[in-house]
This record gives sequence, C-alpha cells and structure tokens, in this order.
Amino acid sequence: MALSADELFAALEEIPRVPLAHLPTPLEEVPAFSAALGGRIRVFIKRDDCTGLLLGGNKARHNEFLMGDALDQDCDRVVWGAKVQSNNCRQTAAACAKLGLPCYLYLSRAGLSTEPQGNLLLDYLVGAHVEFTDAKIGPELDSYLLARADEFRKEGHNPYVWDRDRVVPRAALSYVDCMAEIADDLASEELEAAAIYVSSAGGTGAGVALGVQLLGLSAKVRLICPMAWPWDIPEALARDANAAAELLGVPQRLKPSDFDADKSYIAPGYGLPSKAGQEALHLLARTEAILLDPVYSAKAMAALIADVRADKYPPGSILVFIHTGGTPAIFADPAGVLGTGS
Ligand SMILES: Cc1ncc(COP(=O)(O)O)c(C=O)c1O
Repeated sequence: MALSADELFAALEEIPRVPLAHLPTPLEEVPAFSAALGGRIRVFIKRDDCTGLLLGGNKARHNEFLMGDALDQDCDRVVWGAKVQSNNCRQTAAACAKLGLPCYLYLSRAGLSTEPQGNLLLDYLVGAHVEFTDAKIGPELDSYLLARADEFRKEGHNPYVWDRDRVVPRAALSYVDCMAEIADDLASEELEAAAIYVSSAGGTGAGVALGVQLLGLSAKVRLICPMAWPWDIPEALARDANAAAELLGVPQRLKPSDFDADKSYIAPGYGLPSKAGQEALHLLARTEAILLDPVYSAKAMAALIADVRADKYPPGSILVFIHTGGTPAIFADPAGVLGTGS
C-alpha cells in the first residue's frame, strides 16, 4: 500500500539526521525552457542546486543522514574521497566544517589538474585536509579509504569513512525525502508527473526510485548515469534501495529490473563534457538563468531534451528534472563548458 508524503516524512524522523540543507527546495516550472523545446511539454525543476551548504547540490541532502550517522556513532573525523573536482567531497568537507569534525579527503588525481579551482578551492577554504592519490575512483579508491580509516583506528580515533554499503543506503533515504517533497508540491497543484529525470548511478537514484514506489506515483524514473561503475548498476541500486527500505522499516522492495539506468549519455567519458550536455547547459542558462554542470546535470538534461524531441510523451505531459547541483565544476573547466575545449 502506498504511503502519503506525511507518512514518509514521519518515518524518516526516526532516523539519525542533522539539519544541514535548505529544505524543502523549490519545484520551479521553467516555461521559457519548455517553449524552446516546442512548448508541448511542461518541465519543472526540483532545485536541489539550491540546498545551500557551500553552493548546493544533492550531497547536502545525503549529508544530513550521513553526518547524523557519524554523530550517532561518536565519530571524531571523516575520511572521504573521490575525484579532484568532487562535489561529494566539497559538500562533505562543508558539513564537517559546520559540525566541527576534521575532514580528511583523499582525492584521485589520475591525470587531472590539481589547480585550486572549483570544488577543490572550496575544500581548502573550509579547512579540509587534502591529499592526492593515484588510486582510481571505484573499488581501488574505496579500499584505499578503508585502509586510511584503519590507520586512524590504530591511532585511537573513530573515523566515519566512505564505506559504500553503509553510506549509500543512508544517502538514498535523503532522496526518499526529496520525492516526498516533490509529491507534496505536485499534489498541491493537482499535477501528475509523467517522468522524473535525475543524474545518478548511486544513492540519489536508489532513493528516487524507492520514493516513487513508496508514494505509489505513476511517474517513470529516468536515471541518467554519469559514469559506468565496474559493477552491475541496477543490481547495486536495488540492493541500496532495499537496504534503505529496511532502515525505514517499510516492507516494499525493488528488483534490478525496476531501474532504468541509462548509460548512453556518458560519452566521451565520466567527468568529460559532451556536446549534447553543452547544448543543454547553454539552453537552460539562456532561457532560465539556471546553471547545470557539465559532468552530471547537463548530461541528464540532454536526455530529457532528446526524449522531448523524440516525442516520447503526449502533449501536456509534465516532466520533473531533479537538479543535483555541481555548480562549482563550471569554474574548473570553462573550455569544456563553453565548448571551446579539445
Ligand atoms: C552534481 C551531481 N549530480 C549527481 C551525482 C550522482 O549522485 P549519486 O552518487 O548519488 O548517484 C553526483 C555525485 O557526485 C553529483 O556530484
């Protein structure tokens, strides 16, 4: 049986959480953007680029539950890592600064510039301890982080570490919360979404899909993968969504086949801008003055644009785009954003 948004908000209140994000974020219609796409479809953007916490993004929501978990376990530091221009690390460093927790970031440089720009500049500004590593993002960096956490334990510390199995289901809970906000807003306008678009191959998408199922919404969830992990993504998404459902104490479960994880917008590669993404980024900036980022949200918006142009939805349909942020990345790669790079 479906739960109401209020029932979901109440279930989420039972889980350790610290307030960090500006919530609820607005659900904004973007009529000039819709008009530029032919005007047959109404597009709404869930403004999670406006979650606050050092320039916004989905990790402000994630961190409410992750830092809640860290404080619940009396952790005395946070051990995190991803690529040099990681939005995840920037917002985790910001959360740590607010909570007075030392933050140790291990950033995979693997051929990337370590110039203090974009997200990296902000990591330094909020006082994170930054070290670069050549470990590749994925299983190699994950093991590296677990080993660093073990070293801290040997020194008598209690670190909260990026441990996928623990962290991703808790991150997913925050996107169940986001879906309850969206459902509330749509219901108050008596609107029904045909589809929800979001850039994700992890906790965000697991939470959105679980939220849609728990709320009994008919919307199709289009997860546009920013990267291809070396594991089966729908399988991992189902596992994480089900672990989140267990934390929430609800009986519903998802199968890998319930996830539409579209990998066709990754090219030319994770972290690299695409032509279709650049077009999406420019169109939204020029019609609505909303900034997408070239690595995540621009590629998801490119998928929405392609689907509208391919007439996948009947006229008058409502599409919701969850804007997961990533804004600082545009300053780290101006040539990629402007389309003047190689
Ligand atoms: C801006 C942005 N959008 C989307 C994502 C994907 O989120 P998830 O890892 O929860 O799938 C990320 C991840 O770092 C991100 O930084």
